[in-house]
Amino acid sequence: MKTYLTGIQSTGMPHLGNYLGAIKPAIDFSREHEGNFLYFIADYHSLNSIKDPKVISEQTYEVAATWLALSLDTSKACFYKQSDIPEIFELTWILQCHIPKGDLNRAHSYKAKLQANEEAGKKDLDHGINGGLFSYPVLMAADILLFNTDIVPVGKDQIQHVEMARSIAQRINGHYGDLLVEPQESLSAGKYIPGLDGRKMSKSYGNSIPLFCTEKRLKKLINKITTDSTGPDEPKNTEDSLIFDLYKFFSTKEEVQVLAKKFSDGISWGHAKLELFEKVNEDLSKAREKYNHLMDNRELIDRELENGAKKARVIARETLSKVRQNIMGLQS
Ligand code: TRP
Repeated sequence: MKTYLTGIQSTGMPHLGNYLGAIKPAIDFSREHEGNFLYFIADYHSLNSIKDPKVISEQTYEVAATWLALSLDTSKACFYKQSDIPEIFELTWILQCHIPKGDLNRAHSYKAKLQANEEAGKKDLDHGINGGLFSYPVLMAADILLFNTDIVPVGKDQIQHVEMARSIAQRINGHYGDLLVEPQESLSAGKYIPGLDGRKMSKSYGNSIPLFCTEKRLKKLINKITTDSTGPDEPKNTEDSLIFDLYKFFSTKEEVQVLAKKFSDGISWGHAKLELFEKVNEDLSKAREKYNHLMDNRELIDRELENGAKKARVIARETLSKVRQNIMGLQS
């Protein structure tokens, strides 16, 4: 049986784009396939950029509550947070000592920061870059290698990190004998989900719809979707309509055909937006309720994550003990 593992950034309540493009596919995948699944919240990775305990903690809860509200089956997928697995951090150091610093110099995310400093005319190209950002790929390699991961489903921007994890594993296996599973990336087809202004939905563009905002706000945001000036009764093109594009993600083929017919007959943008709102709201209202319930009863989230960590640590201890013996000559 293959082991699939992926890390989730703890960046707070996800938006519709995260849901349709990443979370839902991951949850569906774990339901529809056989395998060992490990999905975890990479909260220590956030420490790179967030230096406020309240924010880190709140965002971690929001992300955890989201996955649970969307019915991740935690009896099948092991769901935990990185900070509950101390073995990850011990392995990180061991891996750190086996990766050429030059490989870290070549990491895209680090290089992007250097370039930004260069463009800003900074004398010190490492200005504002902390050691955590520099060694980010090593912590991620530990996340992966500790659990004998075969497959790491990731977005395009993370492929290099999985390659680095594999390369560390190969180096270690070459030197100490087969010790670590060498992981492969699998590109999760990051669907293009348009935001309110038609660009890719992203928090940083300010065009996103938070997944579990109130009904009222959801309606308001959907009303903000950019439309053209076609009159209310005029036939409308489904081709470049954001409303239509978003509607498709939430509807059956038949429902989509019905809306397409309304478009060609002439439907006002106001009504089209209302139809979209109702569809999205119907899809999310149960999960929203569950989300709010979990956020009001955080001990429920704690319990799920603790259970996940307990299961994950059984594997973690086993791998680490092998690593300590073979690499450090330690007997426990
Ligand atoms: N770096 C990943 C991201 O930004 C999150 C992550 C952390 C991860 N550890 C991981 C993903 C291990 C896959 C495997 O999205």
